Amino acid sequence: MIQDKKVVFSGVQPSGNLTIGNYLGAIKNFSRFSDEYKTFYCVVDLHAITVRQVPADLRRRTYETLALYMACGLDEKKNTLFVQSHVPAHAELGWMLDCYTMFGELSRMTQFKDKSQKHAENINAGLFTYPALMAADILLYQTDLVPVGIDQKQHLELTRDVAMRFNQAYGDTFAIPEGYIPTDTMKIMSLTEPTSKMSKSDENQNAVVYILDSKDDIIRKFKKAVTDSEASVRYAPEKPGVSNLMTIYRAFTGKSLEDIEREFDGKGYGEFKLAVGEACADGLAPVRDEFARLMADKAHLESVMKAGADEAAYYARRTMSKVRRKIGFVN
Ligand code: TYM
Repeated sequence: MIQDKKVVFSGVQPSGNLTIGNYLGAIKNFSRFSDEYKTFYCVVDLHAITVRQVPADLRRRTYETLALYMACGLDEKKNTLFVQSHVPAHAELGWMLDCYTMFGELSRMTQFKDKSQKHAENINAGLFTYPALMAADILLYQTDLVPVGIDQKQHLELTRDVAMRFNQAYGDTFAIPEGYIPTDTMKIMSLTEPTSKMSKSDENQNAVVYILDSKDDIIRKFKKAVTDSEASVRYAPEKPGVSNLMTIYRAFTGKSLEDIEREFDGKGYGEFKLAVGEACADGLAPVRDEFARLMADKAHLESVMKAGADEAAYYARRTMSKVRRKIGFVN
């Protein structure tokens, strides 16, 4: 709680161009909390360096991610928007929580296993302890609610376990956060391999629709999307490609799955895919326009990130002084 308001925290890594998975699973939902909650939305650049980044790209994407937050409806006056590395308490609490997070727990994290397979040449310690830094992000602000996609659920559960372990050892210190995982859009799948998650680090450009793709690119990618040989628009586990397209269409149009099945009854996949592509491109058009406007004024973005970091640091300091005292550090 901060000033009688419950607290929301979430973060996005500036590690690649953001996808409609990031948008539908997370960012699009952020603004619904702005009025009733105290909200912190962070660009988690410290997490991004667990995988090698080209410095110029990391810098550019940090600005872009902030601009996308704003283009997706986050008003900087109602939300604390900031960059993780601008508030050193994240790294500091991250280290401390490393010492309350077990090797066995971290070894069970599926994201670590996936990423160590993908980056076998760079299985660094940060990749392994990544979830403890994520726990620090969340616990620093006494967070009640964390809006994320389903892929972050395991990290959230670990965050809760670490918080409870710390509270048990030292008395109440951290709020215990809950996830806010939207069931309709919690896992948007790849367009070319619809049994795996759409991911910003996918090398196959046709697998992924980026928030900032042009209308033509979006329509082309949906046209190529993998479906099946049945030629009927029906939501079913054995039809992962079609079901994923229906999920995306539902998210952009607000139509129900039954309505969608009816709308395309007796029609081919060609017509269906075109409709999905158009709904997605039209839904994203205002975000793209606003993004372009925001990116043209870097000084404004810098003033937003500076004000956000000052505000976040103020609340982070309050938690840190409590943590330091409880652990036994000399003041
Ligand atoms: P990241 O940067 O991978 O993704 C950002 C958000 O997008 C969601 N997401 C998806 N949702 C639905 N379908 C998809 N295909 C899809 N792909 C990504 C993610 O679940 C996430 O909500 N570890 C986090 C960043 C982070 C964080 C935090 C999040 C660091 N500290 C504290 C919340 C709270 C991550 O890698 O997200």
